[in-house]
Amino acid sequence: MISQSTIQQITSRIDIVEVVGEYVKLKKRGANYLGNCPFHNEKTPSFTVSPSKEIYKCFGCGKSGNTIGFIMEHEKFTYVEALKWLAARYNISIEETAVSPEVKQQQQTSDSLYVINNFAQQHFSKNLFETEEGRDIALSYLKQRGFREEIIHKFQLGYNLEQRDDFTKAALAHQFNPELLVKTGLVVLRNELPVDNYRGRIIFPIHNPTGKVTGFGARVIKSTEKAPKYINTPENEIYVKSRLLYGTYFARQAIDKLDECLLVEGYTDVVSLHQSGIENVVASGGTSLTVDQLRLIRKYTSNLTIIYDGDSAGVKAALRGLDMAIEESLNVRLVLIPDNEDPDSYVNKVGVSAFRSFIDTNKKDFILFQLEVMLKDAGNDTIKKAEVVNQVAETLSKIHRPEDFTKLQDYIRQCSGILKIEEGGLTTLVNKLKRDKVTKEEKRNASHSPLDAPTDDLQNAEPDINALLNNDEAQERSVIRVLLEYGLKPWDDEKTMAEYIFEELQEFHFENPGMEKLYEIYRNQYEEGFQPTAKSLLYHDDEEVRKIVVNINIVPFELSLNWDKIMEGMNINNRDVSRQDVLMSVNYFKLRKLKKMFEENQRDMEKSVSFEEQINLMKIHKVLKEEEQKITSQLGTVILK
Ligand code: CTP
Ligand code: MN
Repeated sequence: MISQSTIQQITSRIDIVEVVGEYVKLKKRGANYLGNCPFHNEKTPSFTVSPSKEIYKCFGCGKSGNTIGFIMEHEKFTYVEALKWLAARYNISIEETAVSPEVKQQQQTSDSLYVINNFAQQHFSKNLFETEEGRDIALSYLKQRGFREEIIHKFQLGYNLEQRDDFTKAALAHQFNPELLVKTGLVVLRNELPVDNYRGRIIFPIHNPTGKVTGFGARVIKSTEKAPKYINTPENEIYVKSRLLYGTYFARQAIDKLDECLLVEGYTDVVSLHQSGIENVVASGGTSLTVDQLRLIRKYTSNLTIIYDGDSAGVKAALRGLDMAIEESLNVRLVLIPDNEDPDSYVNKVGVSAFRSFIDTNKKDFILFQLEVMLKDAGNDTIKKAEVVNQVAETLSKIHRPEDFTKLQDYIRQCSGILKIEEGGLTTLVNKLKRDKVTKEEKRNASHSPLDAPTDDLQNAEPDINALLNNDEAQERSVIRVLLEYGLKPWDDEKTMAEYIFEELQEFHFENPGMEKLYEIYRNQYEEGFQPTAKSLLYHDDEEVRKIVVNINIVPFELSLNWDKIMEGMNINNRDVSRQDVLMSVNYFKLRKLKKMFEENQRDMEKSVSFEEQINLMKIHKVLKEEEQKITSQLGTVILK
């Protein structure tokens, strides 16, 4: 881990305008800077950089974050990579903190696995090109399938010889730890003896997005064998299948440039399309897409085109993932390859220009595609058709980000056209489903204790329509906001605003787990003598925390609580309103929580059968009432002041 003091050095040097300015032409507009968004195509600039808040926000595509987030997004770096990049830029040497023994152990294992994989990849490539068996059996097979040497080198394909322990011997001679060798899946124990696992197979190294080999797919050559066609690396510290897509490393730039990601099923499809000059392509490995994989794609583009063969099981698997893709705000299109071909065989058969035009003319919007499939199924059956309408509305209700509003309206228009129903009716239905979802979520939040409350939408930096309707969150957010904004200022002669807030909220909890976490982090840092602020927490190493801070910074008053206007009015005279702001935030927070306790108490009273219990509950009721009165009268004096 990079030490806190290094991070502080870096963040104190960061000039967001300068860093972003390297990628985007910025013009000063009032206190902010404005330019064309680097993350989506636009002609009128809506990309705003605020030097005072150290954040950027695009009002076109909704992307937002701090300097580190910008570098992460633009360069597709991880958090640590972005920090290292900035450190190099500002000539700051990086100090790494001591890590726990377990983490260290895991890092060492990961490092070793990468070293072994790298060694193996080179060994297999050498076998392919420099041994007689490799050339005669494997290389000739690849060539006969149409793969040229250049592409074989680029994808670092290789060959594992037939003999039982060619690789194992080389690896052991190289002093690699036998246990780790087994972990990579390259070596297995047969009668307690280590032997090669991928004997007589073509090797497809699988790279992580930065180009390191995390695992392998190994294909048999003679298809008559009973053995499975592919053997893949078992899950280990560095190979987690659900988070990987084959080919990401080679496709990254093309995806970025073309703003589209093609998804195919197989390793050979990726290699073949690359050879034909189609480079924005990755493979799922035939399984249905996971949320992590969708997010990986979402890092590069929001346009996903799935190219599967028409009758593959993959299509059904992909259809199942549709709602997930929509929730990730991806535009999904689908192309089915005809005649039992797959992308690899089809591009070889018809040539690249015919392949491209086939894709272009047959690309179908996934939502509309699904609708057509269901409609065809339903035929003239009116009950089934009603089900289709519901199903489509359900799918559309998952489009929930404010910036996707136009997209949603477009879909409603098209779908109602296809279904031959009133546009207004579909709109009403979609909105109802959205509302139901919110109510359900609120109920769920209310019936859980804060500790096991589900993590919710706040993880997105974008304000979510659902979140806007969730009141608890508004009050909690407001407390966090004043804590970040005024926490270090004096409350009175004895304590700071932060200390006042800690005292007042001692007995209360945050429902939102993210905010609860942020509150605890703030308090711990404060109590350890650090001086946490919005800016310092903007660079905290927990992503969720960073996002909440950004979010609160960007849309401080988005929820339009009752007192916004009052505060605004006070602010006109440039008076310091921090005290009132803190008071009101804290008190509204408490009121909200008290209201919930009332409700809970009420329910308990209704259920209670014993007289004693009833008396107790009534006592609680009285205490709550008094507390509430105290707060309202205090709020009254604040407002009247
Ligand atoms: N796959 C796998 N294990 C198998 C079969 C398939 O992991 N036993 C995965 C591989 O990632 C493979 C993908 O599913 O690339 C698609 O399978 P398939 O279409 O059968 O393989 P292709 O990649 O088309 O290979 P080839 O063209 O050599 O048949
Ligand atoms: Mn194939």
